[in-house]
Amino acid sequence: MRAALEKRYSVRTYTAPPTEAQTAFLCAALEKMNTASGLTAAYLDDGAAAFASRTKTYGMFKNVQALILLKGPRDLPDLCETVGYYGQALVLDLWEKGVGSCWVGGTFEKEKLEIPAGEDLVCVLTVGQFEAPGTKDKVILNRLHKRKPISARITADAPLPTWLAAAMEGVRLAPSAVNAQSPQFVWQGGIVTATIGDEHPMHLVDLGIAKQNFVQVAGGSFALGRGGSYIPNADA
Ligand SMILES: Cc1cc2nc3c(=O)[nH]c(=O)nc-3n(C[C@H](O)[C@H](O)[C@H](O)COP(=O)(O)O)c2cc1C
Repeated sequence: MRAALEKRYSVRTYTAPPTEAQTAFLCAALEKMNTASGLTAAYLDDGAAAFASRTKTYGMFKNVQALILLKGPRDLPDLCETVGYYGQALVLDLWEKGVGSCWVGGTFEKEKLEIPAGEDLVCVLTVGQFEAPGTKDKVILNRLHKRKPISARITADAPLPTWLAAAMEGVRLAPSAVNAQSPQFVWQGGIVTATIGDEHPMHLVDLGIAKQNFVQVAGGSFALGRGGSYIPNADA
């Protein structure tokens, strides 16, 4: 399994914005992502204003400067899930370049960011350089990082084959809003599908993230939409 899937955690304390080389990598990755997905995600080097309020951020974030605005045309089909699916691939690539990030859907001031007419800002990623967490931070991080077992995330009509158990380990490690871990997978008649309820505004982002972590391990791709199916590589 790709190390970033296991090692990544949400970074909320930054030492500095991404370096010049990291920024160049990030901007090239955003361009590729937008072309593939139809999103209009953008890098903002000074997004500090959206994280200046202690009340809005619950004091959880420190020294946020750079952001990725995860946005797209309002009428893009499956906009929220697309943000999750493509955004998570970016998060993992950034982790490998030494850029920490945190998905943020709620605890920031959206109105401090300018979004073009006709577009929706789904959420942001804070991004930047970071240091390994201190002991106090570790206690909070571990609490926010707890995961349900795979058995709580998939229902199956047969024992899980090894490749599927491995992919579900990828799903288990996926970040989710308020760590709800709500995306549910089904293995039935030899087909994997994934879905989610709609109790939380960020749920469809979570579904996209979970599907991305699945394909990071299993290869292939995942159809978007509630109940979308896993599409293995043709040679699998
Ligand atoms: C769609 C989404 C929205 C999130 N929104 C916030 C947020 O508003 N504030 C925050 O502090 N963390 C937010 N998080 C981070 C989660 O709390 C975090 O991913 C989860 O607790 C698991 O911890 P980990 O990322 O360290 O594994 C969000 C995560 C996701 C996937």
